Amino acid sequence: GLGIGKLLSSTDHVTLDPGFVNTASCTSDITFIDGDAGILRYRGYPIAELAEKSSFLETSYLLIYGELPTPAQLTEFTDKLSMHTLLHEEMRGFFNGFPRDAHPMPVLSSGVSALSTWYQDSLDPFDPAQVELSTIRLMAKLPTIASYAYKKSIGQPLMYPDNSLGYVENFLRLTFGVPTTPYEVDPVVARTLDMLLILHADHEQNCSTSTVRLVGSGHANLFASVSSGIHALSGPLHGGANQAVLEMLAGIQESGGDVRDFVRRVKDKEPGVKLMGFGHRVYKNFDPRSVIVKKAVRDVLDRMAKPDPLLDLAMQLEEIALADDYFVSRKLYPNVDFYTGLIYKAMGFPTKMYTVLFALGRLPGWIAQWREMISDPATKIGRPRQVYTGPTERHYPA
Ligand code: ACO
Repeated sequence: GLGIGKLLSSTDHVTLDPGFVNTASCTSDITFIDGDAGILRYRGYPIAELAEKSSFLETSYLLIYGELPTPAQLTEFTDKLSMHTLLHEEMRGFFNGFPRDAHPMPVLSSGVSALSTWYQDSLDPFDPAQVELSTIRLMAKLPTIASYAYKKSIGQPLMYPDNSLGYVENFLRLTFGVPTTPYEVDPVVARTLDMLLILHADHEQNCSTSTVRLVGSGHANLFASVSSGIHALSGPLHGGANQAVLEMLAGIQESGGDVRDFVRRVKDKEPGVKLMGFGHRVYKNFDPRSVIVKKAVRDVLDRMAKPDPLLDLAMQLEEIALADDYFVSRKLYPNVDFYTGLIYKAMGFPTKMYTVLFALGRLPGWIAQWREMISDPATKIGRPRQVYTGPTERHYPA
């Protein structure tokens, strides 16, 4: 008939590995994960120690440059970032071009993409001075772009950065402040957000990071590569899960709060019904980040005096799932984003911004991985093979 068959002749030596479950794409010195033991380390440092003792900028420096900074190095890094927080004034017009109800993730990605139109200092995207400047620009400007995406979505005027503030404090003011009214940063909110950014800062070759490397392997610049990574992050199976968890919890609440019935629908594999925030490709016992987040969520909600009935629903869901053979036999546990949305909600972020916060956290990891890739002599253009299953040769009708 159609002559459909497997033409394996030129690919019979390739490995078919959908989802790259068993395929390493690179060697890396940056992040170590042991999924069975629930271990995550950045440059050798356990995630729990960094979350407790480090700051997001210090951890970013560690990821990008390989070692913890000295106090002088950290000051220099922080000062450089403060000097680059402003966006070109004409970028305001760029934000005005989006529809008012635009989701902030594509606005964020577009903003990063647009940076490469404003900063074309060198034709060689791998020129070391250019890479360093792009690193600083991107780290400094992403919070500004993120807050502009938010302001745009609620129709408020854009704020200018206040460079006397810390990285996270400045972002909070850009997001929640309004011109002419002084904005007081809540130190509990700032510290908790800083800690959450640390937890998200790198996770070796996940979907978005692999995207950043793949785009960069074709010698695209850092802005283009990270812009692509932001799109990869946006999907609900990846970074978009934090938004999806909150929507799931709100949906359960709206339909009467029957957690057991929801779990039944998940187990029956009703189309589109998954326990969002559960499961991970690599962690098969627990996600060490989720343990830290779970501890923080109670603390934050208590200290901010914001009890949330959705937290009770989430805890019930977790309890039921952890005792249910469907989840236990498939090794499904809460991942980092099962509880983060509840914290972001208590802080006042709208649901649509949750994945943007993930992107702010993941940025130093993307940059570190991109820089490692371009300096690794073993790097080649990323180009997976396939196993062709379409028609064999056939001829156009005479
Ligand atoms: N709810 C219900 N069932 C699930 C879930 C879930 N959250 N996750 C996996 N399963 C089931 C699958 O249906 C499958 O069942 P089967 O063997 O009967 O077919 C089995 O568990 C294995 O799942 P896979 O999809 O093959 O696992 P994979 O490693 O490909 O997927 C993923 C991992 C994408 C994270 C998945 O667990 C998922 O979709 N989770 C929900 C979304 C989510 O929380 N994503 C965030 C991930 S972490 C991050 O990016 C921050």
